[in-house]
Amino acid sequence: MLSCGLGAEKRQGSIFCRTQNSLYHFITGANIQIIRGTTTTMLYLIGLGLADETDVTVKGLELIKKAERVYLEAYTSILLVDIANLEAYYGRPIIVADREMVESASDEILAGADTSDVAFLVVGDPFGATTHTDLVLRARELQIPVQSVHNASIMSAIGATGLQLYNFGQTVSMVFFTDTWKPSSFYDRLKENQQIGLHSLLLLDIKVKEQSLANLARGRKIYEPPRFMTVAECASQMLETEEERGEGVCGPQNLAVGVARVGAWNQKMAAGTLKQLSGIDLGAPLHSLVLLGKKTHYLERDFVRDFAVKQDVFDTVWSELYEGKQ
Ligand SMILES: C[S@@+](CC[C@H](N)C(=O)[O-])C[C@H]1O[C@@H](n2cnc3c(N)ncnc32)[C@H](O)[C@@H]1O
Repeated sequence: MLSCGLGAEKRQGSIFCRTQNSLYHFITGANIQIIRGTTTTMLYLIGLGLADETDVTVKGLELIKKAERVYLEAYTSILLVDIANLEAYYGRPIIVADREMVESASDEILAGADTSDVAFLVVGDPFGATTHTDLVLRARELQIPVQSVHNASIMSAIGATGLQLYNFGQTVSMVFFTDTWKPSSFYDRLKENQQIGLHSLLLLDIKVKEQSLANLARGRKIYEPPRFMTVAECASQMLETEEERGEGVCGPQNLAVGVARVGAWNQKMAAGTLKQLSGIDLGAPLHSLVLLGKKTHYLERDFVRDFAVKQDVFDTVWSELYEGKQ
């Protein structure tokens, strides 16, 4: 027999039974219908959107309010406001889950998720360029149901540049180069996209709670200040790699669009050659960059041209290298 956790009431001949997660509707003794909510406890992956605390969905907020514990994944992306703003708006304390916790101590996050709800908050969309597959697989192993609440992602919001999402190829990540490590696999992906005329979205490196090599080697848990790659740094690294590889994929004259803080009131965009963008300052994080494909439609061009660093330069490069080249 099912017990009525939070009480029952009789309305129009039916009995309604309220539990913590659900409202059951008893039509007859044997016929149970779930009107609203869930019957089981869950791990909820909740997308927070891109800019601030108010970007959460209504569904996401309701779940956050009733979850037993609320974690925030804070190393693959960041919101553009402090965690204190989230706690105040959601009315819940938030546990910051760093890479170490999510990758090595996922059982800590999942503890008790079979008897009470746990919310795992992800900036953007939980499945937008961040998947947390390990956490979901571990939850499945423990027979903990998982549900996602989706939200805007940089993968879709990049359409605000006016570039058609249909015309994008593979998304690539650009990591910070060091003196001894300058991985160029991104260049091959850009080249593949370029060969079929598609745009390339580059997501830029974030370093949060990173240890220096010396501290890592000595096992000292001392962390470097956070770093977020800028559009200028990304464009410079692209030019450096072009110098090295010389296959004409991302040289000084290639057109690109740099974006900063997409979705926020102070979002910024700048279009220009990679040489121009390598000297641009778009302000606070987060930044992304799109390398234009040759198939750029004239409507896309008109949209992007509006935020060209210098429209005369943009027009010249466009007519020499892009127009009619698709
Ligand atoms: C690994 S992705 C995580 C994506 C996130 N889960 C989502 O759905 O948007 C993080 C990168 O996306 C880009 N990004 C995320 N939010 C952004 C924003 N509001 N404006 C510009 N770039 C952003 C940055 O390059 C950042 O380093």
